[in-house]
Amino acid sequence: MVSRVIPVEPFDLVVFGGTGDLAQRKILPGLLRRFTDGQMPPDSRVIAVARSDMDSASFRARVARAIAETVPDSHRDAGSERAFLERIDYVMVDATGEAGWRDLAAALRPDVVRAVYFSVAPALFGPIAEGLHRHEIARADCRIVVEKPFGQDLDSARALNATLAAHFDEKQIYRIDHYLGKETVQNLMAVRFANILFEPLWNAQFVDHVQITVAETVGIEGRAGYYDAAGAMRDMVQNHLMQLLCLIAMEPPYRFDPEAVRDEKLKVIHALDPVAPGDIVRGQYNAGNGQPGYRDECGDPDSLTESYIALKLHISNWRWKGTPFYLRTGKRLRARASEIAVTFKEPPHSIFGEGERWKENTLVIRVQPNEGITLNVMIKEPGPGGMRLVDVPLDMTFAEALGAGGRDIPDAYERLIMDVIRGNQTLFMRGDEVEAAWAWTDPIIAAWQAREDRPQPYEPGSAGPEDALMLVHRDGRRWREISP
Ligand code: BG6
Repeated sequence: MVSRVIPVEPFDLVVFGGTGDLAQRKILPGLLRRFTDGQMPPDSRVIAVARSDMDSASFRARVARAIAETVPDSHRDAGSERAFLERIDYVMVDATGEAGWRDLAAALRPDVVRAVYFSVAPALFGPIAEGLHRHEIARADCRIVVEKPFGQDLDSARALNATLAAHFDEKQIYRIDHYLGKETVQNLMAVRFANILFEPLWNAQFVDHVQITVAETVGIEGRAGYYDAAGAMRDMVQNHLMQLLCLIAMEPPYRFDPEAVRDEKLKVIHALDPVAPGDIVRGQYNAGNGQPGYRDECGDPDSLTESYIALKLHISNWRWKGTPFYLRTGKRLRARASEIAVTFKEPPHSIFGEGERWKENTLVIRVQPNEGITLNVMIKEPGPGGMRLVDVPLDMTFAEALGAGGRDIPDAYERLIMDVIRGNQTLFMRGDEVEAAWAWTDPIIAAWQAREDRPQPYEPGSAGPEDALMLVHRDGRRWREISP
């Protein structure tokens, strides 16, 4: 099946932090793919902005190197790369001063979609928002894109929201959580709401429990300064895992539209019970497999920051009362594997008699890698010898099912940037959602800090600390294997 690529309107995308890691590794290579696929119209432009003094030619050379490093050779096309690089200009701007703003204003065209990506530290959100207004760059239809971390607690998130709200309407603000741009995450909504099959069973009467796993093999990748102050709770749970949870647990929105979807997600966050201290396990990876331990990497031998977290959640509403949601995420684990597994309850009565092997029906949505969906069902074991049951996977790997060969599953950023240009906020977090997520997270972190909670060490390449296994075992359940 060939995917339909519908070009967006021509645009000027300004990227503050143009020389930074995110722009070089994700935003610009992502735009290149959209350009190559014909979705980014040739008369669109990217205006990269940073403080360094360089001209557009040197900046393009830098982007060309980043593309060579991040895009596999098999997916490269010299002609498109050349044409794409010509669409990029560089403007030096001092975000906190006066230099460069006039040049930036002069570089923009009046008659195309205008978006400004704040790929910078949150401390610069205010000065940039203000500068965009002072220099009349922020037209009423100008969109701004901001990245996580969106604050480090409720107070700072509120302050950031207030800063942005002083200059922009909520309809102009696109808060990125790149997990919402992942193809399978959107598929979760398609599976739930485009099929009649699952929704009648999607509640505490039929769902035994839900597991959300985001396992990584990488460590903190040189981001000690940020990560040691954040930890897995702020870095992953408050945002990515929370978003996955919302999409699984929310009520059907009346339409796939930004306010309808975000209203339903917000209700889930409001319905979350506070987490009991015994329902959370924090971990920190040891050295091993030739790699340094967390504390060596972050440079603080006494760091109490968690690189792993597992927790059990309850949602207090009619749909979910009594169904636990187990969430876990960590670095330096056995495999890079993110999935959502919805395990259904046993049939009320077995007509096949006692002792017959039985395994729960589980719907697994593989977020990455090997994106796809598997439903485990029980069937009769083939052959003579009576009625014996066996569980088999009904498996759909998207790349195979859609003939995409893996290539056409777009990266989250590609999808999200195109949504910004289209003016579609459905897959972006609203200000109140982010605040609600922090309001739930803050007391958990405060409790650890108050008692100087020590994360448990775990071996790199493992499934996390022992106690995390117990969190599920003691409920008579088990975690799914972490395997790619
Ligand atoms: C980022 C976190 O938001 O998501 C990182 O800051 C994490 O710590 C990353 O590694 C994971 O994203 P992905 O797309 O590789 O699963």
